Order: sequence, then structure tokens, then C-alpha cells
Amino acid sequence: MEKKELLYEGKAKKVYTTEDPDVLIVSYKDDATAFNGQKKGTIVGKGAINNRMTNYLFKKLEEKGVPTHYIQELNDRETAVKKVEIVPLEVIIRNFSAGSFAKKMGMEEGVAFKCPTLEFSYKNDELGDPFINKYYALALDLATEEEIEAITKYAFQVNEVMREYFDSLNIELIDFKIEFGRYHGQIILADEISPDTCRLWDKDTHEKLDKDRFRRDLGNVEDAYQEVFRRLGID
Ligand code: TMP
Repeated sequence: MEKKELLYEGKAKKVYTTEDPDVLIVSYKDDATAFNGQKKGTIVGKGAINNRMTNYLFKKLEEKGVPTHYIQELNDRETAVKKVEIVPLEVIIRNFSAGSFAKKMGMEEGVAFKCPTLEFSYKNDELGDPFINKYYALALDLATEEEIEAITKYAFQVNEVMREYFDSLNIELIDFKIEFGRYHGQIILADEISPDTCRLWDKDTHEKLDKDRFRRDLGNVEDAYQEVFRRLGID
């Protein structure tokens, strides 16, 4: 599988076309941004970790019945994926209070919820990805009712599988963001699942093992990504 043309460059990944119109190659970068690109930096080794971690988790999710865009890992940083049309919704699931939820609700971080929450943001950098609900999404024709139903079902399923799996690594899955795409009329999981897009806390020490170390200048950013990768035991 060969890269043809650069189709799109995002904050953390580049996307290339291939000979096959149904297949793209994603290339993960070490670049890190926060607060809608206002804070910029590099997390050395992040690209390879996020690529390999995403592929490992997507394969696991496929086995559990969640369809994904994953096709084949090409090397440390690059993966062949199904070409989807991204649904412009960021889907956020939370098991514990943290981040924008804790701020909005005036709560400490780390309070366990009775049941997981799900929320949508409209994927639009100019607007800063505003929080919206299902009715906004329907009114603006961002997705159909059936698509939102499938997205909701798969998102909670991803949470169940990942929460149990991270628990076995002594990691608490605090919250995460996922994205979905349309592929020949079907909704499938796309983008990535990595320390960039999840909050992952050590279960005993509550040490943050995710991008909050970069967002909040907590130090040891690379170490945190490597620790998650080490616990996953990939290869
Ligand atoms: P939040 O608490 O800042 O709303 O973030 C919720 C989750 O979503 C957290 O795991 C980090 C992730 N996230 C992204 O992946 N991309 C983003 O742009 C933002 C704001 C959050």
C-alpha cells in the first residue's frame, strides 16, 4: 500500500490518498496541541504510540462487534484505513467527573458517576467545538436519527469494552472522545483512541497518564504515554 497525495493535514495526523478510492493512509505526528490549537508542542514518540495503541484497541473493539475503519498497520506511524465521511460530531463519554464537566458542574475531578454520560460537540474549530444536543444535530442535518442511534449504541459499547480492558491494566478510564464516519451507508468508528483523546488515571495513585499532562504543564508527558503503551503489552 503506497501513499499517493496528501489529502488533509490535521493537528495530530496527516491523511494520504492511495490507489484505492476506498482506502486512505493516516500518518500520526508527534505534534501536540491543546485549547483548539492555541497551545502547541511536541510529545516525542507520541505518533507511534497513538498509532499502535489505536490499532490494537480498534482490533479488540471489532472482535466485540464495533465496526471500525481499521484495515492494516503499515509501520510504527502509518495505518491503512477505510475512507469514511466523518460525522461532524465529537462523541464524549464520561465515567468520572473531570475537565470541562467538572468545571461546568462546579465539581472536583474524580467523582464516580452512577452511570456513564454521553455528550456531543459540533466538530468546528472556528466555533471551538461547541456542546450541542441530539436535536441541534438533527436540526442542522449533521446526522440522521438512525445514525445518532447507531453512534450512541456503539459509543456506550466502546466504553464497556475499554473500561473493562483498562481496568485489567490498573487504569481508570475517566472519559474519552471518539468520532464516527459513514462508510457505504454504515456508521463505523474512525479517528483514534489514545492518551490524546482519553483521560487515563492510574487506579492506585490517580496519576494522570494522558494529554492532561501536556494541557496542564504537569511534566513527564512522554513518560505517561510510554507507561500506557507499556501496560498495553503490545508486542
Ligand atoms: P473535556 O473534559 O475537556 O470536555 O474533555 C473530555 C474528553 O475528550 C477528554 O478525554 C479529552 C477529550 N478531548 C479530545 O479528545 N479532544 C478535544 O479537543 C477535547 C476538548 C477533549
